[in-house]
Formats: sequence, C-alpha cells, structure tokens
Amino acid sequence: MSVIKLENVNIKFKRRPLLHNVNFAINTGELVQLIGPNGSGKSTILRVVSGLLEPVSGKVYINDQELLAGKYAENTAVMINTPSFIPTLTGLENLKLLASIKDKIDVGQIETWMKKFGLNPTDKTKVRGYSVGMNQKLGLTQAFMEEDQIILLDEPMNGLDKQSKQKVIEIVKQVREVRPNTTMIVVSHDDSFKDIADRFLVIDGESVVENQTYDEATF
Ligand SMILES: Nc1ncnc2c1ncn2[C@@H]1O[C@H](COP(=O)(O)OP(=O)(O)O)[C@@H](O)[C@H]1O
Ligand SMILES: [Mg+2]
Repeated sequence: MSVIKLENVNIKFKRRPLLHNVNFAINTGELVQLIGPNGSGKSTILRVVSGLLEPVSGKVYINDQELLAGKYAENTAVMINTPSFIPTLTGLENLKLLASIKDKIDVGQIETWMKKFGLNPTDKTKVRGYSVGMNQKLGLTQAFMEEDQIILLDEPMNGLDKQSKQKVIEIVKQVREVRPNTTMIVVSHDDSFKDIADRFLVIDGESVVENQTYDEATF
C-alpha cells in the first residue's frame, strides 16, 4: 500500500509555475531521499505532503485517503526549514507545549528523545540562547518524539557537527528497525543518507523524477 501518493500535482506561486504534474508514490516503510538544487521546490513538496500547502491542482493521498484542502496529514511529523520555537522557554518546555497538542506522549518520552539527539533535558538555557546546532537537534527531537507513521525531514543535517550527523543516521536506522512501518522523506544533500535510502526522488526543472542511485551530478 502506498502511504504517500501525489497525482498530477501542480504548484504555482503567483502564477509562476514551480512544479508541473508531480507523480510519485511511497510505500510503507520506505525511506526516500528527495534531492534537487536550491529553490527547486523540495521544502514546498514537504509542505504539500503534510497539508501545509494546497497545490493548485492534482491530488495528495495519505494512506489511500485524499488529503482535503485545509487538512493536515494525520500521524505525520514534519520538520521544515529551520525549526522555530518560543525563544523565552527552554527546550524541554517548548517540546512539552508541542506535545500537549496531541497529548500522545509523556515527559519521560520527550526526555528520552532529547537525550538521543544529544540534548540535556534539564538544561535551563532558553531557546534564544541555543546555537544553530542545538536548535536543529530540538527540531529533530520534535519530529521523532511522537513516533509518527510518517516523518518528513527538511535538511536535517543543517548546522550539525560530524558526530551529531552520525547520531542522526543511527537514530533513523534504529527507528526503521524498531518501527519498520515508519515512512520517511528526507530532503538532504548529505552523502550519509544515500546508504540508507531506498530510493531517490530528484527535482529536475519543473519535474520530479525517480533515480535508482544517488547522482552527485544533479545538484
Ligand atoms: N509562499 C511562497 N510564496 C511565493 N514563492 C514561494 C513560496 N514558497 C516558496 N516559494 C518559491 O518557490 C521556490 C521553491 O522554494 P523551496 O521549496 O523553499 O525550495 P528548496 O527547498 O528546494 O530550496 C523558490 O523560488 C521560492 O522562492
Ligand atoms: Mg528548502
């Protein structure tokens, strides 16, 4: 069964076409790496898949159900661009607030995920004092903590040092082992995803094409 399916999706901004007739399907448990040049529409595709942006035409299906205008994809976690948090709260306070929306997880689970990404839950630093890398780790924690069926990650390696990048790869691998039905789209230019990705979607002009291999020449 396809978990995510786009059918003839067209995206325009102020009549300027960005992506034309996008068609792809992603199956349960797949990890797909989405690649393409800067400004080609990678973040936009994640917004369309999650329901944050409505295409001008075409259909988006999540678990074979059409994603209707104004609805967010269910059981979907998304980290798009630089995550933004409330600057006057600590990392844990921010995540607790976000977790309270769905009320699916407890504080212990939040803390566990923070530690996995190398954040200290008892750190009293307000988010306004966070470095780029710490902020990124907080965004990643948010994306993983509710253990959603679909996880959409936009440039997850941004601002991370080598060791932290390695940690992200290990966590993604672990999630896929423990919860093999987790389906992920990862937008990244980072080489380290190519070894764990099942497939590659590449933005080429206004089209999204499927690549069997990670083609360095495409960006
Ligand atoms: N809300 C918007 N309004 C107008 N143009 C937008 C909007 N969002 C994105 N764009 C434009 O669409 C193009 C693709 O953006 P984006 O998806 O962020 O690219 P990428 O993530 O591949 O770098 C860019 O030219 C960007 O300026
Ligand atoms: Mg982007």
